[in-house]
Amino acid sequence: MGVNSRGLALSSNFALQPNCEVVTICDVDTRAAEKCITTIDGIQKSKPKNQPDFRKALEDKDMDALVIAAPDHWHAPAAILASKAGKHVYLEKPCSHNPHEGELLVAVAAKYKNVVQMGNQRRSWPNVKSAIQDIKDGAIGRPYFAKGWYTNNRATIGIGKTAPVPTWLNYDLWQGPAPRRAYKDNVIHYNWHWFWHWGTGEALNNGTHMLDLMRWGLDVTYPNKVTSLGGRYRYKDDWKPRYPGYQPDLSQ
Ligand SMILES: NC(=O)c1ccc[n+]([C@@H]2O[C@H](COP(=O)([O-])OP(=O)(O)OC[C@H]3O[C@@H](n4cnc5c(N)ncnc54)[C@H](O)[C@@H]3O)[C@@H](O)[C@H]2O)c1
Repeated sequence: MGVNSRGLALSSNFALQPNCEVVTICDVDTRAAEKCITTIDGIQKSKPKNQPDFRKALEDKDMDALVIAAPDHWHAPAAILASKAGKHVYLEKPCSHNPHEGELLVAVAAKYKNVVQMGNQRRSWPNVKSAIQDIKDGAIGRPYFAKGWYTNNRATIGIGKTAPVPTWLNYDLWQGPAPRRAYKDNVIHYNWHWFWHWGTGEALNNGTHMLDLMRWGLDVTYPNKVTSLGGRYRYKDDWKPRYPGYQPDLSQ
């Protein structure tokens, strides 16, 4: 589900695994679906079906798992629907759009006794596993402080204009569980990350990876306190900033 970028890489990798068949591709962008189907057709023996609506794909009794690489606002709702349909779930990070949805996912997996695996990869990377083992074996003594960061000179996303929905897009299904917004020309694809309405910012885009490593190395669970500050300093564009005292306006 969702194969524009990350989902294309995931499905190509799944198609390469022994005893694994990618049976259906679901995307609300017809161009992304077609590109992915052609790619998978070149990797595995069978050609995947094209089913834009993942809820219909879940009716397939022969399908074992749903792989979710749609935008963040879809993660938990799609994972919950898949669990209810008796499927296992491989879910891209972040597992949800907000912490409460993450707790719902834990409850749902306990209820349906399926596997809901969030993909942030590093827990299975051999070099990282061995480094963490070294830390746990005392290589640097007792770790009590960790710092992580991510840098990227991302270009401006500009100021979006309301525009007709492109013919290749089912915008209603793209919005899915999110409150309705008029289509704007600088959100799809990828830039939705920088709007609270659908995304979770860089904190949960790349921050998820680093926070997970730090929690693992420090052997800690949940935070007691979180402080956040920052701003949008270089560009005046639609990217939703944070700054001290900033209260996210979820209607924006
Ligand atoms: N683990 C990693 O290293 C990693 C790397 C990249 C992205 N990701 C995650 O993968 C997700 C997707 O990221 P991306 O960069 O590919 O985003 P993207 O915007 O490029 O692609 C999202 C795709 O989902 C499709 N989509 C939206 N609603 C859908 C629906 N209801 N049904 C089917 N398809 C739908 C869109 O049409 C689009 O093709 C994000 O949550 C991101 O955090 C993880």
